[in-house]
Amino acid sequence: MDSKILIQTDHLYVQFAIPNGKVCAVNDLNLSIKEGEVLCLVGESGCGKSAFGNSILRLLPDNATLQGHIYYYGKDIVRMPEKEFRLLRGKEIACIPQSAATSLNPLIECGKQVDEVYLLHKEKNKSAARKNTLRLFKMLGLPRLPELAGDYPHELSGGMKQRVLVAMGTAAEPKFIVVDEPTKGLDWARKHEVIERIGYMQSMHNSAMLLITHDFSVAELLSDRIAIMYAGEVVEHGETKQVLQKPQHPYTKGIISALPQNGFKAIEGFSPALTEIPSGCRFHPRCPNATCECTVQHPELQKINEPNHVSRCLYAGV
Ligand SMILES: Nc1ncnc2c1ncn2[C@@H]1O[C@H](COP(=O)(O)OP(=O)(O)OP(=O)(O)O)[C@@H](O)[C@H]1O
Ligand code: SF4
Ligand SMILES: [Mg+2]
Repeated sequence: MDSKILIQTDHLYVQFAIPNGKVCAVNDLNLSIKEGEVLCLVGESGCGKSAFGNSILRLLPDNATLQGHIYYYGKDIVRMPEKEFRLLRGKEIACIPQSAATSLNPLIECGKQVDEVYLLHKEKNKSAARKNTLRLFKMLGLPRLPELAGDYPHELSGGMKQRVLVAMGTAAEPKFIVVDEPTKGLDWARKHEVIERIGYMQSMHNSAMLLITHDFSVAELLSDRIAIMYAGEVVEHGETKQVLQKPQHPYTKGIISALPQNGFKAIEGFSPALTEIPSGCRFHPRCPNATCECTVQHPELQKINEPNHVSRCLYAGV
């Protein structure tokens, strides 16, 4: 295995048991992320983005089963004993979660919550931890320093709390960060501020990143590569510029046409429930180019003209 590859998934499946059966949230995912690289995972709600991110962090709920492999520097973390994985989580593999409201402890001062990450994973030196926290807060553009470090989460705005989460996720300078919907619920101005800061932190530490989002503007600003997910599968994957400028899969074309700057031409229909996956190509009920063959034949990812650009369509590259 290439030593530069930091995370590699191999035939990864994630299923959730539900009262009347199971939901296959991630279906045969094969993706890799290199050191320092940002891979953005884009797709509609419920398509399996967080299930994938949480599988790398080993934060899946008890009703989940995982099949396949996730290699971190060639070592399968799916089969790694919990004790061994705990040494990686937070220190080498970290996350910036989706919701500041549920991820920050309301009873602990913000600065202390960031200090704790440093104390746990870097060194047990309180003044070094606080120095690091204040350095991060400054880099993240938080005001009123050092006083703000003594504030409780409810005393901060949504954008500030999100930046505290960014500081927590990066306090131990991890090699790899899963960032799940970092701008959800923020207004446009705050969103861009948080994105800019995440990009800055990522480049300062040269961390690799899996960035999960619905938002193409976030993907365009931060990512090297984009993987588009639909109903549990990757349907297109390539360098960010290639995917945004020359989308190949009809679903990707559809979501790009639905962007405000392209006139809001929404794709007809809805994503299928993952308990009722369509036969053949999962996108066929909504695809403007669907043929009879599409209703029966499940497409594999096909290489198209540009290097490293693939599309899951029977007519890819035609
Ligand atoms: N604990 C669970 N038990 C049962 N089903 C679940 C569970 N967690 C997620 N699912 C289902 O798995 C599918 C994928 O969920 P996931 O949270 O990964 O979607 P997502 O792409 O992150 O969506 P969003 O953009 O809304 O965050 C969904 O159909 C969801 O209902
Ligand atoms: S395989 Fe058929 S239905 Fe699926 S994306 Fe391609 S043309 Fe559309
Ligand atoms: Mg999610």
